[in-house]
Amino acid sequence: MPAIRFQSVSKTYSSRGGALKALDSVSFDIEEGEFFGLLGPNGAGKTTLISILAGLARPSAGRASVHGFDVQKDYAQARRQLGVVPQELVFDPFFNVREALRIQSGYFGVKNNDAWIDELLESLGLADKAHANMRQLSGGMKRRVLVAQALVHKPPVIVLDEPTAGVDVELRQTLWQFIARLNREGHTVLLTTHYLEEAEALCGRIAMLKTGRVVALERTSDLLKAASSNVLRFKMDSALPQALREKARVTGRIVQLPAHDAHEIEEHLAHIREAGLRVEDVEIRKADLEDVFLDVMSDKAEKAAVAG
Ligand SMILES: Nc1ncnc2c1ncn2[C@@H]1O[C@H](COP(=O)(O)OP(=O)(O)OP(=O)(O)O)[C@@H](O)[C@H]1O
Ligand SMILES: [Mg+2]
Repeated sequence: MPAIRFQSVSKTYSSRGGALKALDSVSFDIEEGEFFGLLGPNGAGKTTLISILAGLARPSAGRASVHGFDVQKDYAQARRQLGVVPQELVFDPFFNVREALRIQSGYFGVKNNDAWIDELLESLGLADKAHANMRQLSGGMKRRVLVAQALVHKPPVIVLDEPTAGVDVELRQTLWQFIARLNREGHTVLLTTHYLEEAEALCGRIAMLKTGRVVALERTSDLLKAASSNVLRFKMDSALPQALREKARVTGRIVQLPAHDAHEIEEHLAHIREAGLRVEDVEIRKADLEDVFLDVMSDKAEKAAVAG
């Protein structure tokens, strides 16, 4: 039995302006013990899918289950299996950190939880904030408390909706060490993030959502293998020659061009030479998950899929 199962999940939001299909027949399974990444641009439907899993939103069609418990019919059992770190910073300003965690334990009927609460506070760098009021915490610290709250009942399935947004480098590392440890100990992890190097480093499999549809679902290593294997990167001040413009990813002065092999790299360089352009800091690097992501999300890829 999979840890998480989505079966033809659709979600339509209706508003005065008309209907918006946030999810369009999404189906996939996440097996027990997986570290699974759900990626997609803003508005792709990631949070909507997680809200349906957590029983916070109703699907318009289809169903979702956690360890076989239907998130609607068996809401209480399904919810107990899950620890959800929400994307939005929601907290009760009247309690201190330890109180907030005790209350959350009580909500799940877990008694005498202080030993685990202490471990969570320690592992998430919150030990010295245990008595601080939630209002007094910085944004990044509030996010740590949200992570602790999600884990307070030791859920077998951990769902993290952009847990590192606005979090400093050090905590990101602490957080990933802790989550990776829980994953090694058998917890299933579902993660959404816009930090693709985090997803590449952590996730065994990745699904990509685009406007509510799954457009890729593969092992991370296979996604990387299927990508153009190299990227030619350089800096330049002038405009790119027409022949390269379509393929290039430009960030300020930095130009990056996908290239499958040495021949293609040579071709790119020839275009630049023929146009008489000056380039600096030329380097060749391996394609990473960000390249794959941009490729999958581009309309070019879609046209190719339709044509093929
Ligand atoms: N409560 C709502 N009412 C109406 N539309 C909504 C609601 N919640 C989300 N949407 C719309 O559904 C689509 C998917 O939103 P969702 O929050 O799931 O995206 P996301 O992938 O989590 O994006 P992000 O990366 O920005 O967090 C968006 O077009 C959004 O505007
Ligand atoms: Mg979201």
